[in-house]
This record gives sequence, structure tokens and C-alpha cells, in this order.
Amino acid sequence: MFLSNALRRIYFGLQDFLVGQVRTILVLGFDALLQTGNLLTFNRRFGYVIAEGKPGRGGLWPPFEAPTKADSRSPCPALNAMANHGILPRDGRGIPIAGLGPALCDTYNFSSSFAYFTLNYMAEMLQKSYAYDTFDLSDLLVHNGIEHDASLTRYDVSRQPDQAVPAQDLVDQLLASATGRDKQGNAMLTFADLTRFSTERRDHSRATNGQYTLSTFHKLFGSSNTTTLITIYGGRVDDLAVILKEERIPDGWEPRIRSRNGLTIMGMNATVLPLEFGIKERRGPRTVRLT
Ligand code: HEM
Repeated sequence: MFLSNALRRIYFGLQDFLVGQVRTILVLGFDALLQTGNLLTFNRRFGYVIAEGKPGRGGLWPPFEAPTKADSRSPCPALNAMANHGILPRDGRGIPIAGLGPALCDTYNFSSSFAYFTLNYMAEMLQKSYAYDTFDLSDLLVHNGIEHDASLTRYDVSRQPDQAVPAQDLVDQLLASATGRDKQGNAMLTFADLTRFSTERRDHSRATNGQYTLSTFHKLFGSSNTTTLITIYGGRVDDLAVILKEERIPDGWEPRIRSRNGLTIMGMNATVLPLEFGIKERRGPRTVRLT
């Protein structure tokens, strides 16, 4: 009995592992095709990044309503903003996982490969079926699922238990760290700013949070989120203040990624890896100042 149980577990474990590996290879192969398509085609025109008939076309976003206490919200400003504009259910509940992918592609010009990859990971993390299940935005609050310490828009969970709301003063510090300027003189966050601020956040958490954890996976996921502030959102401080503090999409805004097939995993990695490798955080044993 014991042996047959053990063998069954090993068999199913191995099967899951192999299916996962094959799926990853197929998604990455498809992603490479989409990226090649992006390189061989012209970008979408300014003002036309969002397709005809989709919310946000021409910068016209559905009305914003701030969430009520009863609504379900996540630690992700991008998903919360979609609910705040009614692109996702305004109460943030019962969102079909498979249905979120197309909505992400339409709203932020994410590639279908990237949306599938992330949502499939999310479904596994939440022990749900990608194809058949729904989730609530607050399901993403699970600590060290995808949500992690040393974020740029939320203090660590040990200090700020409700990760669904942005830490206004932290976002102010992030935006105040911007050193760039665009041609019109608008303040812009640069990759160097994000590298510096991410380093400071990790060092600060390490020094002050006795429960601080940040695995390599979470570092990479965190840096992926961070780079969207420039790649998808465009880095303009005026826009980011609205997006990150109110979780609202500014009137007239459209995704800064204009490629035909959207932001691919490959395209994203071109910015994530340099950012992550640029972060020179303190390492080794640490002394925690409990304040
Ligand atoms: C599959 C869809 C997505 C999922 C499941 C997801 C999930 C998450 C989670 C759990 C966090 C919290 C991470 C932390 O603790 O810092 C987060 C943060 C974030 N996400 Fe998303 N996200 C998704 C799509 C997007 C998209 C499309 C964008 C950009 C348009 C985006 C931008 C961000 C940003 C800027 C943060 C804040 C990072 C920080 O505070 O350091 N996310 N996301």
C-alpha cells in the first residue's frame, strides 16, 4: 500500500513536471515568434495603440470610480486600475483567469504569450484552473506568492498589512527620485533612477524588517513590475502620480509599447535583466534595527 502510494505520487509528480516544462518551451517558442514579428513590422501609430472598440481607444477610458471598502483589490496597480475603470468587475471579484489575458493585451499592449505565462503561473500559485476558474483581486495578496517585500509602491507586509492600497509617501519618494526630463521638460523616471531606488528599498527592508525575505524569483518578478513603469507606462512622473497613487489611468494616456504583438517576455527581459543586475544591494549577515 505504502509503496504503491509512493510510486503513484512520483509518477504524477513527474508527469506534472514534464507537462510544465513542455508548456514553458512552447510558450517561449511562441513568444520568440511574436518578438520576431515585432521586429519585422512597423509599430502601431501614436494615438492608435489601443484597438478600435476597446476601452481606452484614443485615450478615452471608461469612468473612474475609487474602490469602496467592500471591493476586492490587489497589490498590483495595473489590475486595480482596470477594476477602478470597470474594465474588470468594479468589485474586483469573480474574474475569469482565462478572460483576463485578452483584457490585459487590449489595455496595456501586453503580448498574449506574456499574459498567458503570468496568468498560468498565477493560477498554479492559487491552486486554480487557468481554463475554468475565477479569482478575486485580493487573492493576489498572498505573501511571497507573487507579492513580495521591498516593493516600490507598498511597504513590506510586516509594516503595512493591507497591501491592496498604495503607500502614498513611498510613491512620492519614488517619483521624487526621478532625474530625467523629456523634450517638453516633464520630469521622467529613468532606468538608473529605478535601479537606485530598488537598491535603497532592498537595503532599507533588510535593515529594518526582521521578517524580510526576497528570493531570486521575487527579485526578478519585482524587477519585471518595476520596468513596466518605463516600458508600458512611459516613465512620466505626472502620469505615474495618477497611476500609482490613485490607481487611475490618466485621460489621454495610452501604452508606450506600440509594437504590433505587444510586450513579449523576450522584449521585457531586455530591460529586466540589466535592471536586476544593476541593483547592488547589501548581502551577507544582517543586523536589524527594530524601530
Ligand atoms: C497577469 C497579470 C498580472 C499579475 C498577476 C500581477 C500581479 C502583481 C502583484 C502580485 C504585484 C505585487 C508585487 C509586489 O509585492 O511588489 C504586482 C505589482 C505591480 N504590477 Fe502587476 N500583475 C500583473 C500585470 C501587470 C501589468 C500588465 C502591469 C503593467 C502595466 C503591472 C505592473 C505592476 C506594477 C508597476 C507593480 C508595483 C510594483 C512595486 O510596487 O514594486 N502588472 N503585480
